[in-house]
Amino acid sequence: MVSANHRRARFTAVVGFAAAAALLAAGCAKSVESAAPPAPAGAGAGQQEVAEGGSSGAPCSFAQYGAPQLDLTKAVVGFSQSESTSNPFRATETQSITDEAKKLGINLIQRNANANVSQQNTDIQDMIAQGAQVLIVAPENSDGLAPAFAQAKAKHIPVLTIDRTVNGTACSDFIGFIGSNFLGQAKIAADDLGAALNGQGNVAVLQGTSGNNVATDRTNGFNQQIAAKYPGIKIVASQTANFDQATGQRVMEQILQRNPDINGVYAQNDTMALGAIQAIRAAGKTPGTDIKIVAIDGTQQAVRAVADGVMVADVETNPRFGPLAFESLRKFYTDAGVPTTVIISDHHFTKDNAATALNNGDVY
Ligand code: AHR
Repeated sequence: MVSANHRRARFTAVVGFAAAAALLAAGCAKSVESAAPPAPAGAGAGQQEVAEGGSSGAPCSFAQYGAPQLDLTKAVVGFSQSESTSNPFRATETQSITDEAKKLGINLIQRNANANVSQQNTDIQDMIAQGAQVLIVAPENSDGLAPAFAQAKAKHIPVLTIDRTVNGTACSDFIGFIGSNFLGQAKIAADDLGAALNGQGNVAVLQGTSGNNVATDRTNGFNQQIAAKYPGIKIVASQTANFDQATGQRVMEQILQRNPDINGVYAQNDTMALGAIQAIRAAGKTPGTDIKIVAIDGTQQAVRAVADGVMVADVETNPRFGPLAFESLRKFYTDAGVPTTVIISDHHFTKDNAATALNNGDVY
């Protein structure tokens, strides 16, 4: 039943992006080369695709962008990470970018803004001052980085955004975006929870940091799917916990005090889900039995919780952007250019495949 839901959640690729398939086979974020379902890449037996990737937007090249031609292997590339690497998603993302730069012999400089938007502006401006000629940015939010992006644009320094979007015009304010289908992820999480609750119950939502497309889409996708398919499920609380474990625990404690009859939790990332599990146990309840939990990211600790029956399911957000990000930059510096939107394809972990995926080392 869950599998059928996934198939329905797939969306169609818009434009082909052939090289991505090979990159994805190497274990990085996945894209597709056609509207046909992509072959599982680096996935363990039984893992299911949840959202087919695709690329769209008129291709963008350095010439269209107004940037000087660059040999990446001789350039200084800056990487701006938005949040602490205590979150495995962030640690894996940073490692993937670092590893790929090393493999390609690229001079990479990097900063981590630790969830502070004004720090991320400073980080980007510092890297420009340090000689960065092209930037890869994992944005903290969608609007707050305008000062740094404007400075990069004024200096004809291209910016590739990964994992979250910024507002603005592709191939002008930034090259484009590579990331997951966040709306699709949330709909699958809603179906997982809806099935686990047999369509009846009171649910709490732990939202991510506000002001970015990821939290917005993960809220809207879940709400839409519950409203459309599960009239017996009531969302009794929906609060931000900033994609953070300690905050997730604290917010869940407060929610449980106000709503002791909750029997379902949707956490918009794994770290918040782990915090919620601590709060549920501290309240004398059993996660997985008294309260069903679904989350998003696919980190080892959460997938272990799925295998152990503590969580119902976990939807992956693949953070292995390195190979695809640098391949996208390489294409940007050709006359053909690169698609301005590349939506990657993520996996989905349930009781049926979680242990296998962990044993196969497919989980970060
Ligand atoms: O932007 C991706 C999200 O941000 C990940 O789901 C989350 O863990 C991170 O903080």
